[in-house]
Amino acid sequence: MTFVEVTHEGHVSTLTINRPDKLNALSQEVLGDLNAAIEAVSRRDEVRAVVITGTGKAFVAGADIAAMRDMNQAEARGFGALGHRVFSMIEHLRFPVVAAVNGFALGGGCELALACDFIYASSKAKFGQPEVNLGIIPGFGGTQRLPRRVGPGMARELIYTGKMISADEALRIGLANAVFEPDELLAAAAKAAADIAAKGPLAIAAAKRLIRDGMDIPLPQANKVERDAFGAGFGTADQVEGMTAFLEKRAPRFTGA
Ligand code: COA
Repeated sequence: MTFVEVTHEGHVSTLTINRPDKLNALSQEVLGDLNAAIEAVSRRDEVRAVVITGTGKAFVAGADIAAMRDMNQAEARGFGALGHRVFSMIEHLRFPVVAAVNGFALGGGCELALACDFIYASSKAKFGQPEVNLGIIPGFGGTQRLPRRVGPGMARELIYTGKMISADEALRIGLANAVFEPDELLAAAAKAAADIAAKGPLAIAAAKRLIRDGMDIPLPQANKVERDAFGAGFGTADQVEGMTAFLEKRAPRFTGA
């Protein structure tokens, strides 16, 4: 893969978007590599959490404007569909994905971070949906995931003004979960991922699925889905191991079975 580096440590894989001369802008090729990288890590049984970050001064400075300028409507629709497909795949992985936002997360970069389970930001990070500056709207899920994350009022302001906000502001509005010094960001994201990887993989997968799907269905129905999933977790090796380890006052050894 040319534009995405993949590394593995224990149960955690890190995907680094690597097109620094264009601030990691998402071209068709970059999205294709991201797609391939995600498919590759999802095929590895031992992976239990992923970190996504970027090389250089950007996380991702958006979809590739040079590639988009001459697109016709059908091509733009296809490009949007590709972004949606890749980001939806991230949301549907069996394990959590932490966005380690090291710099600019604009447009498609902010949308990529929003498709991840949660966001850790460098104090130098900048977030925004600047598409209206270009005469277009967010096309990789921004009009939908941003209001779900920060509420409709805040999302409207960010999308209508196209303004950039700081990491601290992103933290204040609930877009980022935590802010770190730039040289501490990756270690913090890797630690969060490793902490998650030490939990029962089946429980984490069920929690991810329930939170994702529950946001879009009425509460009574969502609570019923949770009740069923709670019951289904019993009798698994992870449930027996987790509770036995507690009672035996030792650390659990989860297998995801
Ligand atoms: N698409 C294509 N190329 C991009 C890009 C994007 N979204 N964002 C940055 N680049 C390119 C620049 O064109 C430049 O290329 P060049 O060196 O060949 O001229 C290179 O990356 C470096 O960017 P530059 O603008 O010189 O860096 P900067 O530090 O002065 O400014 C930003 C940084 C992020 C403020 C600025 O690059 C920017 O506004 N980018 C576009 C953000 C955007 O609108 N994203 C949404 C797209 S839908």
